[in-house]
Amino acid sequence: MTEGTGLSLADAVRGATAVLAAAGVPSPRVDAELLAEHLLGVGLGRLRALMLGDTPAPDGYQELVAERARRVPLQHITGVAHFRYLELAVGPGVFIPRPETESVVQLVIDRLQGLAHPKVVDLGTGSGAIAGSIAHEVPGAEVHAVEYSEFAHAWAAKNLAPLGVHLIRGDLRDALPGHNGTFDAVVSNPPYIPAEAVPIEPEVALHDPPEALYGGGADGMELPTAAAASAARLLVPGGYFVMEHAEVQAGWIAAMLERSGLWTAVTTHRDLNGKDRATSAVLADPTALR
Ligand SMILES: C[S@@+](CC[C@H](N)C(=O)[O-])C[C@H]1O[C@@H](n2cnc3c(N)ncnc32)[C@H](O)[C@@H]1O
Repeated sequence: MTEGTGLSLADAVRGATAVLAAAGVPSPRVDAELLAEHLLGVGLGRLRALMLGDTPAPDGYQELVAERARRVPLQHITGVAHFRYLELAVGPGVFIPRPETESVVQLVIDRLQGLAHPKVVDLGTGSGAIAGSIAHEVPGAEVHAVEYSEFAHAWAAKNLAPLGVHLIRGDLRDALPGHNGTFDAVVSNPPYIPAEAVPIEPEVALHDPPEALYGGGADGMELPTAAAASAARLLVPGGYFVMEHAEVQAGWIAAMLERSGLWTAVTTHRDLNGKDRATSAVLADPTALR
C-alpha cells in the first residue's frame, strides 16, 4: 500500500475505471490501466500480473486519472502515441494519429512493393506518423514530409529525424516545387472536417489543433482539393496518390479526381469499420492519353 492513497494497484485501477466511465471516457478500463502502466514503466501484461497481488498504487496515479477525467487525451498525458510499429512523441499542438490512418499507410506500402528506391511525400505530416512509418517499413525509400504548423513541425522533427525523413515547414498547396514530377507516391491525411461539423468529443474539440481538423469551406474540401492538385504536380506519370477523408466526402473526391482527367484507377477504400475513408488514384501518363 502507498502512503499517498493507501490503495492497492488493483483497487486503484478499479476506482479509476469508475471515475473515467462517469466522465464519459470511451474506454475507461483500458485508460485506467494504461495510466498505471505509464507510471510504473511496465508492460500491460506485467501490470495485470501485478494487479493480482498486493502491489500498491503508484504515487501520482490519482492526479493522472483526474486529468484524464477532464478529457485530456491519454496520449497528451503519457506523451506517446502508438502508430503501426512506431512510438511517436506527441503533446499539445499536434494532431494525435488515429488507427484508421494505419490502413492508409498500408495502401502506400503495398503500392511501393518492387520499387528499389521509391520516393514518397506525406502532405500535412502532423506528428510524422505516415512519413515515419513508410521510412521505417519500406527499405530504401526516400521519404519527404511537409507540415505548415510551427508546433506540429516541432513534434514531427523530433519523431522523424531518427528515421531519416526529409521534413520541411511549408504549405501543402505549393510545397517542394523543385521536386515536381519526381515522387512515386503522394500520401495525405489533410484537414477535412466541414466548418460546421465541430467534433463532439472534448479530446478532439479542445485538444487537437483546429488547423489539423478543418479543411476549409463549408464542405471541408479546400485542403483535400489542394492536396490532390499538389499530388498531380509532384508525382511521376503512373505515380500513386492516396488521401484520407470523411466518409461523406468519398463521392465528391472520386468525382473531382475523375472530372479532372488527370487520374486513372480512382478507387475508394473502406476502413476497418467498413466506412469509405480513403481514395487512391494513379496519375495518368499524358503521352498515353494523346
Ligand atoms: C488531420 S492532421 C494529420 C496529421 C498526420 N498526417 C496524421 O495522419 O496523423 C492534418 C495536418 O495537416 C497540417 N496542415 C494544415 N494545413 C496545412 C497546409 N496548408 N500545409 C501543410 N500542412 C497543413 C496540420 O497542421 C496537421 O498537422
